[in-house]
Amino acid sequence: MAFPETRLRRFRRTPDLRRLVRETRLSPDNLVLPLFVCPGEGVANPISSMPGVFQHSVDRIVETCRETFAEGVRAVLLFGLPEYKDAEGSAAWSPDGIVQRALRALAAEVPGLVKIVDVCFCEYTDHGHCGVLHGHEVDNDATLANLARQSVSLAEAGADVIAPSDMMDGRVGAIRQALDAAGFAATPILSYAVKFASGFYGPFREAAESAPKFGDRRAYQMDPANGREAMREAALDVEEGADMLMVKPALAYLDILAALRQRFDLPLAAYHVSGEYAMLKAAAERGWIDYDRVMMESLLAIRRAGADLILTYAAREAARLLAAGWVE
Ligand code: PBG
Repeated sequence: MAFPETRLRRFRRTPDLRRLVRETRLSPDNLVLPLFVCPGEGVANPISSMPGVFQHSVDRIVETCRETFAEGVRAVLLFGLPEYKDAEGSAAWSPDGIVQRALRALAAEVPGLVKIVDVCFCEYTDHGHCGVLHGHEVDNDATLANLARQSVSLAEAGADVIAPSDMMDGRVGAIRQALDAAGFAATPILSYAVKFASGFYGPFREAAESAPKFGDRRAYQMDPANGREAMREAALDVEEGADMLMVKPALAYLDILAALRQRFDLPLAAYHVSGEYAMLKAAAERGWIDYDRVMMESLLAIRRAGADLILTYAAREAARLLAAGWVE
């Protein structure tokens, strides 16, 4: 039946009718807040390109996580700014490393918090690339052993989920094997399976002090032009034992997210990255958009496209809006 028998506006007339037929909902249960841990005490360095985001020392991370947890966001993703950088990024697997210390403090102080850790070397190497260099190229196979060491060290310190973002081939299998051998068979791997070489990571590199000193990451991260290759990346990671897949960035890659949702039954995550957050903040600062509305609409769209969880710097803002009865 068509118009005039059918009128789709009938269920749009009032907020309560719309609520009744709403297909997608946001919940703080599905949100993960990324955080940056730095050395020192009482440190809260604001990131200029990401208003509301800070580099926090361990004590301040604990405080932030306590508040975050109380607001209903029960999972965080930790990035570390190490005391020293070297060619291999060895601070990443030091038992006394910055993220390892944060994990132990959080385990003691914020019970129940799900602590996801980013596994990669760009914050830890003096050259800013995501692995060991061989000439001017990142040596894939030599990097795998280091990723495994970093993962085991983080699991030992209490990480609940290991999230490799380096984009080396074979890393999920290498990490799974190392975790199992070290007695962490129960620790899941959230693979940044489909991570594009994206300009949207710009503000993050200020936050994590991880910009490459030469060149870029196109020789290991994916070409933004490729959708079929994204399916191959995901399929390989599933075969190697990934427990959850991620697409990154989010908004510009919703087609990839929707295609993965169709093809895989693993939980799916999407990373609403630094540049996406920065653009919303910048436009809102100029009074050009309604921040709350556009931010919530963005997160909703990411969920509608197929993400079970969203990693976003706006997680706390979203949780607060939801607690205050936000209806889209
Ligand atoms: C790499 C990593 C990056 C991000 C998460 N993990 C940066 C990169 O690949 O250069 C970006 C996240 C963001 O932009 O918010 N360790």
